[in-house]
Amino acid sequence: MNDPKILADRFPGDFVFGVATAAFQIEGATKMDGRKPSIWDAFSNMPGRVYGRHNGDVACDHYNRLEEDLDLIQSLGVSAYRFSIAWPRIIPEGTGPVNEKGLDFYDRLVDGLKARGIKAFATLYHWDLPLMLAGDGGWTARQTAYAYQRYAKTVIARLGDRLDAVATFNEPWCSVWLSHLYGIHAPGERNMDAALHALHFTNLAHGLGVAAIRAERPQLAAGLVLNAHSIHAGSDGEADQAAAARAFDFHNGVFFGPVFKGEYPESFLSAFGTRMPAIEPGDMETISQPLDWWGLNYYTPMRVSHDPAEGAEFPATVPAPPVADIRMDIGWEVFTPALGDLIRKLNADYALPACYITENGACYNMGVENGAVDDQPRLDYIAEHLGVTADLIREGYPMRGYFAWSLMDNFEWAEGYRMRFGLVHVDYETQLRTIKKSGRWYAELAGAFPKGNHRAA
Ligand code: FCB
Repeated sequence: MNDPKILADRFPGDFVFGVATAAFQIEGATKMDGRKPSIWDAFSNMPGRVYGRHNGDVACDHYNRLEEDLDLIQSLGVSAYRFSIAWPRIIPEGTGPVNEKGLDFYDRLVDGLKARGIKAFATLYHWDLPLMLAGDGGWTARQTAYAYQRYAKTVIARLGDRLDAVATFNEPWCSVWLSHLYGIHAPGERNMDAALHALHFTNLAHGLGVAAIRAERPQLAAGLVLNAHSIHAGSDGEADQAAAARAFDFHNGVFFGPVFKGEYPESFLSAFGTRMPAIEPGDMETISQPLDWWGLNYYTPMRVSHDPAEGAEFPATVPAPPVADIRMDIGWEVFTPALGDLIRKLNADYALPACYITENGACYNMGVENGAVDDQPRLDYIAEHLGVTADLIREGYPMRGYFAWSLMDNFEWAEGYRMRFGLVHVDYETQLRTIKKSGRWYAELAGAFPKGNHRAA
């Protein structure tokens, strides 16, 4: 079952197999070499925000174990590594002086990848906003988008010659709704007006970032990583179907619409248009510049029903139960077909460029026994989602690569270190890394690439 050789044959020879991480989740060394705090340092140091009051101070100590971790990536046989760059290392106060030592670290990282023949996929923003910017309103302030543009330009000027691809943002859904409306992620706001401002200014920052990348390095493949939601109505009834359509606009349309069509969804504007910040002339053009690629992060479907409560705020939905109660240890429903449904629906609704699955993976918390980690459910999860990806390629969708989340267990945001997504187990006491069964399996699969049956140009 799940023979990696059989699975490998279902992919074109130039399909990219990679692993992914993010700076705050693995680096630690939060006070080293000129880094200053991000909103996640502040958030995780407040009681009641992150499980067990865990924080990013040490994490996987990746900052100090860079070479060893690059060897680990290489040992997984992958041809690409997706990582994020910490803005608070590069421009520690958000605006103001550039910190050369921060740039030096990513220089070493990128050179280390190149030396090992591994492609570098960088993400500019994976949620670690410099804390100083929060004093001016963080993402609810328009000037944060311009501060981001300067940061993007600074990074690309230094690293752009050696990157294979760059993403402006990781999962704006999280840094907008989850962070400013649902209060689960930093800065922990629960405020629709704040969220609407964060939404537009994040979209604007994406566009300004693309402009900065283009100005510095016109040939560099620029993209955006979205955790599009595969939305399923709780029933066939009209009310629930309409609820699912509203949810699509709210959770997906407010990002895909501006970026790929130059407009916010109508339903959304009629609900919130008057509460949105001013959309200035040129904003929508800036946001909708063509991209070379986009990334999908997919884990679990979203099931919704109509919320009958009087005055329920748009999108007026309540969660609907899963169809089968198969869940990861973090509680997320496992439902493989949703990945295919999602790619088909998004390509039907928008003119999308080439797609990488920039994150997919599963949370299972089994530990090391006799030097090994038997995480068969993770292996199965990844194999099944890759099976769907191969189906999509056969149907003609431009799926170009897959990055397993994650290279190693790490700081799982509000869940702290208790939730493990790694192909490699991390013992946080000793920092010992142990490749799990899934990691060995993935290495066999990825090691088969690139191979001889490349797609015709
Ligand atoms: C995604 C994040 C990533 C990781 C996974 C499990 O939302 O992008 O950092 O935490 O979820």
